[in-house]
Amino acid sequence: MDDLDLSFLKNKLFTLVPQGRSGLLPALHAAQEQFGYIPEPAAMEIARSLRVPLADVYGVVDFYAMFLKQPAAKTIIHVCADPACAMAGADGVMKRMTRSIARTEKGVDSLPAVTVERAPCLGLCEHAPALLVQGRPVGGEKVPRYQDLVAGKGLHPRSVIGRAVNLLTANCGKGRPTTLEEYRQSGGYAGLEKALSLSPREVIEEVKLAGLVGRGGAAFPTGVKWESAANAPGETCYLVCNADEAEPGTFKDRVMMEEDPHRLLEGILIAAYAIGARKGYLYIRGEYLYPYQVMSQALVEACAAGLIGKKITGSEFTFDLEIRRGAGAYICGEETALFESIEGKRGLPRLKPPFPTTAGLFGKPTVINNVETLCNVPLILSMGAAGYRQIGTKKSPGPKLFCLSGDVTRPGLYEVPFGITFRELLEGLAGGGRGGRPLQAVLFGGAAGAFTTVKDLDVRLTFEDLRAAGLPLGSGVITVFDDTRDLRDVLFRLARFFAEESCGKCYPCQTGTRRQEEIIQRIASSGPQPEDWERLQDIGWTMTDASICGLGQTAASAVLSAMRLWPQLFKAVD
Ligand SMILES: Cc1cc2nc3c(=O)[nH]c(=O)nc-3n(C[C@H](O)[C@H](O)[C@H](O)COP(=O)(O)O)c2cc1C
Ligand code: SF4
Ligand code: FES
Repeated sequence: MDDLDLSFLKNKLFTLVPQGRSGLLPALHAAQEQFGYIPEPAAMEIARSLRVPLADVYGVVDFYAMFLKQPAAKTIIHVCADPACAMAGADGVMKRMTRSIARTEKGVDSLPAVTVERAPCLGLCEHAPALLVQGRPVGGEKVPRYQDLVAGKGLHPRSVIGRAVNLLTANCGKGRPTTLEEYRQSGGYAGLEKALSLSPREVIEEVKLAGLVGRGGAAFPTGVKWESAANAPGETCYLVCNADEAEPGTFKDRVMMEEDPHRLLEGILIAAYAIGARKGYLYIRGEYLYPYQVMSQALVEACAAGLIGKKITGSEFTFDLEIRRGAGAYICGEETALFESIEGKRGLPRLKPPFPTTAGLFGKPTVINNVETLCNVPLILSMGAAGYRQIGTKKSPGPKLFCLSGDVTRPGLYEVPFGITFRELLEGLAGGGRGGRPLQAVLFGGAAGAFTTVKDLDVRLTFEDLRAAGLPLGSGVITVFDDTRDLRDVLFRLARFFAEESCGKCYPCQTGTRRQEEIIQRIASSGPQPEDWERLQDIGWTMTDASICGLGQTAASAVLSAMRLWPQLFKAVD
């Protein structure tokens, strides 16, 4: 242990020291990259350099699933076991691999060369069953042998994109990132140019006129949020882009980052200009290694072209962007937990108010927006608010990305105008249910969403129509289940997801998610007991009403909706 070569880490820490504690996650990533885990001398060096108590360093290491305290296998294969992948046979893949590794690797070394681990949704749901092999995505029905995966085989899945409009995804589908030159040729950065010709207030006004509503799940009007931060007292103001995408069933932000990184950078720049931010952060989910690499490369291109840094394109606007990686915690998608994570702490949500626009990152006024929200911004500036409003409906203007997975003929990312019906999306664009089988259930909004049935096939996909139907739009996730699926098993997987991802800060969610998982697991394996109905209702409504943050408040929503639709699944037969 004493002869550990810390020089690489020390060099990295040298660049992080000015950030103090905020450099903690980047430092831990650097250590893990070098050693495969966080050895004690590395943790001590990090604590010393960043002036963070060692106990706090370990508190952070323990919080994030991707940081390891013990040496691990050289190759870790993560297999997603959330609903879309489970339906595509993920459990079987995992069992086969585990058996095969045990047979082949037995007794070779004290530390296994390869291990297989169950993972929550990897944001590759359209390629189910999905795997990450040391961060490299692999997906599709034919999963290679583990030996081939270790040897680098297995296709990097290519995005499947369907469209009823071609705006946000106009540059997507090449199977590689769009370069700066290509982006410019397609009219890219014209929105930034337009924005810089206006005053920040005028840009905010244009976004308000366009009626842009946040795409991250909370459906908050973007222009209003920007105005509030711009009006907040005090000078320092941050722009944060939330790319933590980890809701089971969601993969839209990954595709946008992988295929059209400059659209996102342009959206970030316009937002920063409008609110007066000189510094921004792009926080990317830890598992999204490839999108992180693509965005980092695009950032280098943008800096070299004078689009990021001092006096951008010769204007008075100066802005610096830093890309941060998460480390395997769904809760860090919650905006205040994300701030804590950037600040180098465990991702525990804060109590609100105060809201981020008055006291956000480092206690300063902050705007946080989702990737897709910011990708809409260049469109608004280049088309003008009136042009943008030609797409979609009056109350839900613009294009929307939907992530369609499960029992669908063509799972994938679909760009549609708000206002088409679910039937048009499912049957018209995605080819209908897989194998023409009857549809049993549809989950809108991911794990935090709600179920429906064929009765809602003709619901219009808008904020207002879905609200009226009692269905959440969430971030645009739709998972389809045909008549062969065991819904109790699906519910168990959703309940397990929340139990494993609850941060534990508040009691209703910490305990409620565990009890909910236990009861549903029992129901799924041996059928319901007489008290289960009441217990699940009690736990579900307590979590909904008394949890501190959105995770606990929605952890029972899919279960409660299933109880309304299929009470027989939860009631013991006398
Ligand atoms: C548990 C939880 C996870 C979340 N995950 C994400 C996420 O991955 N991406 C995202 O943009 N918003 C996520 N949100 C919503 C954010 O808190 C926030 O509302 C959003 O980033 C604001 O962006 P918007 O206004 O552009 O929608 C999450 C919220 C909760 C409660
Ligand atoms: S609701 Fe759950 S995730 Fe949110 S703060 Fe409470 S314990 Fe943490
Ligand atoms: S990658 Fe498996 S459900 Fe999303």
